[in-house]
Amino acid sequence: MNIDQMQFAHRFDGISGSAIREIFKLLAVPGMISFAGGNPAASALPDETCAELARELLLDKGKVLLQYGATEGYAPLRESLAPYLKERFSFDCKPEEILPVTGSTQAMDLLCKALIDPGDKVVVENPTFLGNMQAIRLYQALLVPVDSDENGIKVDELEEVFKKEHPKMLYIIPTFQNPTGRTLSLERRKKIAQLASQYGVVVAEDDPYRDLRYAGQELPSIKSFDTEGWVAFMGSFSKVISPGLRVGFLAANSTLLRKCTIGKQSSDVHTANLNQAIVDAYLRRGLLAPHVKEICLSYAQQMNTMLGLLAKCGGVARYTRPKGGLFIFAELNEGMNATELMKKCVEKGVAYVPGTHFYANGGHENTFRLNFSMSTIEQIKEGMEKLNQVFTENC
Ligand SMILES: Cc1ncc(COP(=O)(O)O)c(C=O)c1O
Repeated sequence: MNIDQMQFAHRFDGISGSAIREIFKLLAVPGMISFAGGNPAASALPDETCAELARELLLDKGKVLLQYGATEGYAPLRESLAPYLKERFSFDCKPEEILPVTGSTQAMDLLCKALIDPGDKVVVENPTFLGNMQAIRLYQALLVPVDSDENGIKVDELEEVFKKEHPKMLYIIPTFQNPTGRTLSLERRKKIAQLASQYGVVVAEDDPYRDLRYAGQELPSIKSFDTEGWVAFMGSFSKVISPGLRVGFLAANSTLLRKCTIGKQSSDVHTANLNQAIVDAYLRRGLLAPHVKEICLSYAQQMNTMLGLLAKCGGVARYTRPKGGLFIFAELNEGMNATELMKKCVEKGVAYVPGTHFYANGGHENTFRLNFSMSTIEQIKEGMEKLNQVFTENC
């Protein structure tokens, strides 16, 4: 029998991941201006600081850091995360209620591992981050999309869905959402915490972009309104220090966290000690805030340049105006197809992600997501001019 004909696990049924992978292949073409990814700028990656910290930490605690560690995480990091969560996300939590994870992607995977049986329902924003939709799908959950507007997910529709569909979990990105860049309003944050305990739904709150704020006031997390432990909070240092370090965390009720910790034992035993120690040093030594301040200055300029040019771009019917994060989401005139036009854009040397991939049930073919962090101001100007030419010719 041919190995390619083997029966793969049913959890992979309907999952190919190929559409986006194809786009990322195109980005390797020399000279391509990419508005497609979601990576930090190369200039935002603190290689020298990390090199110095790694050397110092290894010389000081190398025998501990190079040994196996606890699945529960590097103890000093859990201790420095507790006050960080209080200060930045406005909720109290003890070090033992925090699990350092290998990127917040792992937090999502562990929550699904702990909670989801095939056929369970998980509510997602429509549109939402496709990486975590894939994680949810791999546990054979049924995705129930709920629409959002400029204030985030529509809570009246959400309550109806909680009542009728009895979902196990809600997956939500409250701040500078991926792909829309929108932020959930204060009232809706409170309401979601209340609905979660009223209907017994675990909220997976994913907040990796909160620190990348270029305007406006910060809002407390959904978890800060959670009195009964229904909200599981996922954080990440990928966008503010380095995605390559793969350090994130999950803060959750201790019973749920215990299940996730058991699940993590068989995933990777523990998150890399050295990487946890580097992040711990960032928090302990006050290195994070000045670094974030610096990168926000250039991201703000990049975003504002892109927004200004989008306002003049042919064929664009509307677009979001985020106050932070890495993305702008736009809609072309009715009848225009962002997947089809992507081919023409790529021929001209510019790429984006068609928005259809972020919708649980597809459709919305006239939408697309733009990223501004990976391009210089000059590249943004050149890339937006190329988009303008293609869209104007085809609108
Ligand atoms: C909303 C959201 N959650 C999670 C992640 C992944 O984060 P991590 O690198 O911590 O796994 C991303 C990355 O793009 C994201 O946009």
